[in-house]
Amino acid sequence: MTEKIPLAIIGCGGMGHRHLYGLAELQNAGLSPFELVGACDPNLDNANSLADQAQERLGTRPQPVKDLEALAAVGAIQAVDITTLPAHHHTVAIEAMERGWHMMCEKPMGLTARACKLMIAKAQETGRVLSVAENYRRDPINRLAKALLDAGAIGKPRLMQHVTMGGGDGMLISVWRHQKNASGVLLDVGTHFADIMEYYLGEAETAYAQTRLHEKTRKNPVAGTDGTGGNSPAGIYGRWQKDMPAEFAATADDAAYATILFKSGAVAQYVEDHAAHGEHLWKRSIHGHLGSLDLPGDRSGQRLTLHRDGQDPIDDQALLDLVPEHRLNEATAALFGGDRLFEYNFPFPETDRKLIGVEYHELGTCIEHGRQPEVSAHEGARAVGLSYSLMESQVAGRALLVDEVCDDQVNAYQAEINEHLGL
Ligand SMILES: NC(=O)c1ccc[n+]([C@@H]2O[C@H](COP(=O)([O-])OP(=O)(O)OC[C@H]3O[C@@H](n4cnc5c(N)ncnc54)[C@H](O)[C@@H]3O)[C@@H](O)[C@H]2O)c1
Repeated sequence: MTEKIPLAIIGCGGMGHRHLYGLAELQNAGLSPFELVGACDPNLDNANSLADQAQERLGTRPQPVKDLEALAAVGAIQAVDITTLPAHHHTVAIEAMERGWHMMCEKPMGLTARACKLMIAKAQETGRVLSVAENYRRDPINRLAKALLDAGAIGKPRLMQHVTMGGGDGMLISVWRHQKNASGVLLDVGTHFADIMEYYLGEAETAYAQTRLHEKTRKNPVAGTDGTGGNSPAGIYGRWQKDMPAEFAATADDAAYATILFKSGAVAQYVEDHAAHGEHLWKRSIHGHLGSLDLPGDRSGQRLTLHRDGQDPIDDQALLDLVPEHRLNEATAALFGGDRLFEYNFPFPETDRKLIGVEYHELGTCIEHGRQPEVSAHEGARAVGLSYSLMESQVAGRALLVDEVCDDQVNAYQAEINEHLGL
């Protein structure tokens, strides 16, 4: 690609800065198709911070602006990267598409199934690229696991177990992640896991869940400190967390215990508990009719293990022998240092920016060649719908068809959020 695509980042908080680092990672590898020309946030301090850091990392300073009108005045924008709060994803995305801009949008794609439907309709109407920034599935270890599944290494998948437990009464990164009308944790984190489950097992059919709001008061240990410490992925949230309240009311459910049936016939046992005390748990495994895969935490770089009856567990190079055709794509291979990996070892912020770099690279390719991204509006909306299926199931008191939640036919839990959004 010769001409760079003029790009703006919209939403210059934690993830906006992390996306900038991802863009710089891609540029340093000589693979960036973009020129960052705008940094947009109603909080101009945040927009200026991102612009300053862009100057350092990219060598050019994007124009800091406070809204899309001002961004349009920067001129020549072709693509935007939406890293705003989830409640604004649909309004920003729809206005951006109307202005003719392609986009990558952070997960959750929209705050409700209804918001997602509006985004899908606008993408279809305008023909703009809408890529959802689902970074977990792009992890080289998840890519290897998918290749092994596709190659039949464990046979036909029967049962996936996904268990994450921890969190206690602590604030997860920010206040808004505990507020139902802003995107609670079961949506914010749950969309990642929903996407991973459908990536591995195909579309979900039904979901039955018990969901809870266990911890009605959340505590922020960083309040009033110098901003170091606390729960701060990629090490950049402390500057905002120190000014958040030390204690606040949580309104969003923080735990889900579910059984999910997939259209393939596979079943998932799913536990996502952000309010657990005591032992913290991580377990992700898939059992099939020939064996099982034990999967490490996303973005950890740790090895997965293949177990087959009567054989020693395999967690090394021998995994790659089972998938001779498996190759990571150009950007992933360049950034992670190889196109066939069974492990990697980078500090978390570096892994984080590499995966975001991979997302940017795909967006550029889709814009250049008019292709659909791997996680398009369809997949992005399904992850939102599957996440809400758990909360909707709790309200309905029965198993639900996931398609009905995705299609906004079952929406009692989301009614208050839709009303808040004016939808
Ligand atoms: N993929 C991942 O691993 C990952 C990790 C963290 C966050 N995220 C996602 O990124 C998004 C942002 O999260 P965050 O952690 O950066 O939140 P944040 O609170 O740190 O930052 C949000 C920013 O958006 C700005 N904003 C609010 N309304 C806006 C508008 N209308 N236009 C432009 N900017 C606006 C805020 O001023 C703030 O600067 C969320 O959707 C979140 O789920 C994804």
